[in-house]
Amino acid sequence: MPAWDPNLYLRYANERARPSADLIAQIRLQSPASIVDLGCGPGNSTEQLQQRWPEAVITGVDNSPEMLAQAKTNHPTWQWLLCDIETWKPDAPVDLIFSNAAFHWVPGHATLFRGMISSVASGGALAVQMPNNFQSPAHSVMQEVALGGDPRWAKAMAAVPGTFTVQPAAFYYDVLRKHASRVDIWETEYQHVMDGPKAIFDWIRSTGMRPYLDRLPDAEQKQLFEEMCLEGFQEAYRPNDQGKVLFPFRRMFIVAYR
Ligand SMILES: C[S@@+](CC[C@H](N)C(=O)[O-])C[C@H]1O[C@@H](n2cnc3c(N)ncnc32)[C@H](O)[C@@H]1O
Repeated sequence: MPAWDPNLYLRYANERARPSADLIAQIRLQSPASIVDLGCGPGNSTEQLQQRWPEAVITGVDNSPEMLAQAKTNHPTWQWLLCDIETWKPDAPVDLIFSNAAFHWVPGHATLFRGMISSVASGGALAVQMPNNFQSPAHSVMQEVALGGDPRWAKAMAAVPGTFTVQPAAFYYDVLRKHASRVDIWETEYQHVMDGPKAIFDWIRSTGMRPYLDRLPDAEQKQLFEEMCLEGFQEAYRPNDQGKVLFPFRRMFIVAYR
């Protein structure tokens, strides 16, 4: 699995912090003693959890050594665990299992969400946020370039659009309601004000474009792919007279209580 780049990821840290803060604001738990932040990345969602519940013991879990190294540098005394979400299992039930912008990278959501809610302690919660913008112009451009941009890469790219897993809200409700006393699901479409299409390109390059770039064999093809995508983004996201453009970004939020 090629490396995540914490610096590129943190370039839009303020915009990325907002959904995590919105999710935390809706979690109706007074004082969870144990919290796990799954897919904690460089630790920014973990910091938000620590601010809301300073007494809690919080563990950040991620399968990227680069992201965890950044998290450890920022907070050397906090608990960090290099582990895949798919195989992670706590020793004892956890009061709050939290995940911001990570579960869409993991397949098999019926099994995943069932396993997660059953690892939550009685009276605790599972709280998850996932991007749900895979029908957006940015993703359409990447798919078009992947499948029609250059015959050398079309075959390798065919499976990429299936990399991200986000099911309809009713799916999560059905999976979770059997194990939860209450399930809250909502979606928000943020309208990020960006400095032109290149800024949107830079944002996506550090996350949603990675599975495409990872499949290209060399720097020349990666550069060509990026150039074609940037051209498509310039068509799809037209800046206004001040060079600004709105980047609509839909996200799904789930909080289930045991
Ligand atoms: C978009 S970042 C989110 C980081 C952080 N939660 C935040 O709110 O900024 C997604 C993180 O999920 C991690 N991730 C993706 N798939 C994973 C998996 N299967 N197991 C563990 N971590 C995973 C990535 O390494 C990355 O750090």
